[in-house]
Amino acid sequence: MERVASKDEARRAAAEARAEGKTIALVPTMGALHEGHLSLVRAACERADYVVVSVFVNPTQFGPGEDFETYPRDLDADLQLLAAEGVDLVFAPSAAVMYAPDASVTVDPGSLASRWEGEIRPGHFVGVATVVTKLLSIVRPDLAYFGEKDYQQLQVVRALVRDLDLGVGVVGRPIVRDRDGLALSSRNARLSPSQRQAALAIPAALEAAAQALAWGEREARALERAMFERLAGVDDLSLDYAVVVDPDTLEPLEQVESGARVLVAARIGDIHLIDNCGLEPPATPVPEGATTRE
Ligand code: PAF
Repeated sequence: MERVASKDEARRAAAEARAEGKTIALVPTMGALHEGHLSLVRAACERADYVVVSVFVNPTQFGPGEDFETYPRDLDADLQLLAAEGVDLVFAPSAAVMYAPDASVTVDPGSLASRWEGEIRPGHFVGVATVVTKLLSIVRPDLAYFGEKDYQQLQVVRALVRDLDLGVGVVGRPIVRDRDGLALSSRNARLSPSQRQAALAIPAALEAAAQALAWGEREARALERAMFERLAGVDDLSLDYAVVVDPDTLEPLEQVESGARVLVAARIGDIHLIDNCGLEPPATPVPEGATTRE
């Protein structure tokens, strides 16, 4: 596995692979890698001949007062994990390498970025869209892999690639969860044991929405109420949003349709966690009073 820190080296290594006729996949990450990232890497290794992983905690996607300074970092551990997966190239630049001191051009992430994370983290998706565009233009992969845990980010990246004709296939991969149900996130490393207990209310709220749906509820507001009830009164948890949205436009739905997405974001202390799941209304709602629940 080759490790490079400059844009030129990354560009050259990827160009050599391309010249050899290899298909190239990029997995953009901010490091502190966990099984969620590794599931992206494994999927990339299965599909592509040459796999590039970028490890870069991108300062421009963190707002003032957010956790840029405390975001977990462990490049040595990341490199060991990536070498064991058979990754070909790790691109781990510094912020000074990625951004010229007088850089002033950014990428507008479009309308999908205005709600939810975009509203509570102003500027976040401008930072994401800009750095993803830069990484794609340095590596020029055939495929780029993103996790569905950051569902809105995935949709923003899909729109970015489509609207700017970036010519890369965007592959979204399912959320990986810990045994207790918590979606894997680099930020989980910052949770104390009691905060982790509180954080479990997030997947439990998704479960409450799915269960209400399974029992015949179709009103999106009712599913949201089921989530609020599950999240209310949890110590140290402050809810940002819990919504049922259209999976493509991310606009709130009135009635749950096939493929609808539930998005949840909450802060546990100062740790921002997000999670989501897809919804599939059952063909025949379970009649009230039935006792098929496990
Ligand atoms: O999802 C992430 O880790 C980051 O937002 C990304 C896509 C690597 C851009 O910095």
